[in-house]
Amino acid sequence: MSGNPPLVDSHGRVLRDLRVSITDRCNFRCLYCLPETEAAQNFYRGRWATLPDSKPIARDWVPKQSLLSFEEIVRVVRVCVSRGIEKVRITGGEPLLRQQVERLVGMIAGIEGIRDLALTTNGFAFESKAHALREAGLRRVSFSMDSLDPATFRKMTGREGLASVLRSLQRARSLGFHPLKVNAVVIRGLNDHELESLAAFGEAQDLSFRFIEFMPLDSAHAWQRELVVPGSEILARLQARFSLEPVISENRSETARRWRFASGRGEIGIIAPVSEPFCGHCNRLRLTADGRIRTCLFSVQEHDVRDRMRAGMSDAELSDYLTLLVQGKEDRHHIGEPGFVPPERSMSCIGG
Ligand code: GTP
Ligand code: 5AD
Ligand code: SF4
Repeated sequence: MSGNPPLVDSHGRVLRDLRVSITDRCNFRCLYCLPETEAAQNFYRGRWATLPDSKPIARDWVPKQSLLSFEEIVRVVRVCVSRGIEKVRITGGEPLLRQQVERLVGMIAGIEGIRDLALTTNGFAFESKAHALREAGLRRVSFSMDSLDPATFRKMTGREGLASVLRSLQRARSLGFHPLKVNAVVIRGLNDHELESLAAFGEAQDLSFRFIEFMPLDSAHAWQRELVVPGSEILARLQARFSLEPVISENRSETARRWRFASGRGEIGIIAPVSEPFCGHCNRLRLTADGRIRTCLFSVQEHDVRDRMRAGMSDAELSDYLTLLVQGKEDRHHIGEPGFVPPERSMSCIGG
């Protein structure tokens, strides 16, 4: 890192973590993100008298020329790193759909000052790309896997993909990716009957298996509080079945609270942004695939760096712009409060 001052927001939080979405496209249609399948519509329809937005969801992918090029992404990351960002996570959409993703990974891995480079994937295409990603310098990967039952998996993701994801996990392990994290979004009445079997899988496979509360980030704005299984309920269920010991973490900005299995193999994490927000220690900044900076997952305002860079903004000016926009980082989200406005774009555009 250079001698430039770190990015500090107006609440005193020092930003260390940049999440870079490299495409908004996805080959899955997860019910909590892009609920465009018949199965997803039926699930929500059974719970809403009328869907909040009953017209078909209109969504266009970001056109290619509007995406940041690899060089532009690397430039933003480099400037952020010069201001104290140490952790970079590559996300999507599904990041592995971006052509030559391994070349981009190599370019980012080569930036001096990054202490941790990770990638989030749905795992469908990971098996075939794993080796190239590893060679390019990727060391850490998080998978999404919401169910171990092929029918529920298909209902939740819109794809016949469970077997591919399971193969990808094995491939990641055999290539030495570590730690291996797996995320499951828990939705009441859909996959919550699988909490114990997912946790048991985490133990058997020696994974960090994380259960995530459903957040209002789906493109249909169909989220309802009743569908959220609170972290406390998830924990009580798992404690009734497994012998779990809390893992004490030094890292206050972590999203998950964690417990290890008494067997010494694997751990579970609970990510509870709805019932137990962790905003007070948030150190995250986000870059969308079309070059907007978001200071919060729930920001309703975005800051365009793409057009600024294309209009000739220098690195020093970009750095000053970051100083300014970080001042406006939201103190917290307002999920569940009257007047809460979900972000216009779904998680597939923002990046987990
Ligand atoms: P690492 O520490 O780098 O492994 O990242 P992580 O633990 O945050 O894991 P990951 O990036 O896989 O994030 C897991 C999930 O936590 C995401 O998919 C989101 O659902 C949720 N999440 C991550 N960051 C935030 C955040 O800033 N705010 C909220 N509300 N949820 C978040
Ligand atoms: N609520 C909680 N987590 C979500 N993710 C996507 N949409 C949501 C949502 N509505 C998470 C998934 C995926 C990651 C990219 O983002 O766990 O692993
Ligand atoms: Fe940070 Fe916003 Fe997430 Fe809260 S909701 S933890 S402020 S990104």
